Amino acid sequence: MSELNKIALQIISNGKGILAADESNGTMTKRLEAVNIKSTKENRLSFREILFSSDGMKDCIGGVILYDETINQISSSGKSIPDLISISGAIPGIKVDIGTKDLANSPKEKITEGLDGLRDRLKKYYALGARFTKWRGVYSIGEKYPSELAISSNAHALARYSALVQESGMVPIIEPEVLMDGNHSAEVCLNKTSEVIKKCFEELLLHKVDLSGIILKPNMILPGNLSEKISSEEVSIKTLECLKNSVPNEVPGIAFLSGGQSEIEATENLNLINKNNNTNFIMTYSYGRALQQSALKVWSKDIKNIEATQTTFNHRAKMCTLAAQGNWSNKLENK
Ligand code: G3H
Repeated sequence: MSELNKIALQIISNGKGILAADESNGTMTKRLEAVNIKSTKENRLSFREILFSSDGMKDCIGGVILYDETINQISSSGKSIPDLISISGAIPGIKVDIGTKDLANSPKEKITEGLDGLRDRLKKYYALGARFTKWRGVYSIGEKYPSELAISSNAHALARYSALVQESGMVPIIEPEVLMDGNHSAEVCLNKTSEVIKKCFEELLLHKVDLSGIILKPNMILPGNLSEKISSEEVSIKTLECLKNSVPNEVPGIAFLSGGQSEIEATENLNLINKNNNTNFIMTYSYGRALQQSALKVWSKDIKNIEATQTTFNHRAKMCTLAAQGNWSNKLENK
């Protein structure tokens, strides 16, 4: 078993999942202002530190994805943030892309940037304690989208990123996110997502990436947010069909993004994916909003109330971990 494979398995085994706390300052500002909290460096640290030092970390969270600002911060106890995370038994990770820009010659689509100088940045993050990384490619569904150009240029970037990350001794999380915005059907999402993922693996192989030392972070197969919803059972069947047909067997695991689903939807869908799992892949979560939303609301009512914030986060993490084992139920949710 390679070192990278061991790290990947440590992050996602036994129902553990990933806390995606890697919102850029722009995104975090939107999240905080939506609950009437000022987005200062101190407030961003304070909320995140409350999550990272909660009990739910020990049993449920195998890895935390950080943003550049946070990985460099010191907690109120004097420990560095990566140390605080490691003490709970989770592995610190870092988002290394620097966001999206309009794709030249297809300006309604996006290309993710951040390859320039990446090798040096990775050395710095490794020294700070990171052992895995994240890069997100983003694709919209439309009549002509995602275009072949967007699919192949983002796959190329994801593969170059992954090769550099493995060279630096870390596990790359590969996140090709097909957005849920639009009025398309789940069938269209299935076809487009399959095309996107297949192209990613074509490029990963070309770039000689060790597939046993990666984690794939895809979207679930859902209809567009302007279309009628389908049942969780259907979501799970379509998601499994997509991954079974597009992900090579060497990949140890898949950690879904929540992508705008509610906390309960993201939990219920993951639970059924695991109940119906007919693949060899570990299926877990790498949620941002679906792990933090309720905790952020509670915290925003009284930022001194650490206990209530942690209780809310602990419950969410526990529910997601039950779902990652196919053991979640509505009854446990409401207990
Ligand atoms: O890149 C996206 C995040 O890592 C996951 O966030 O679960 O809110 O979609 P989300």
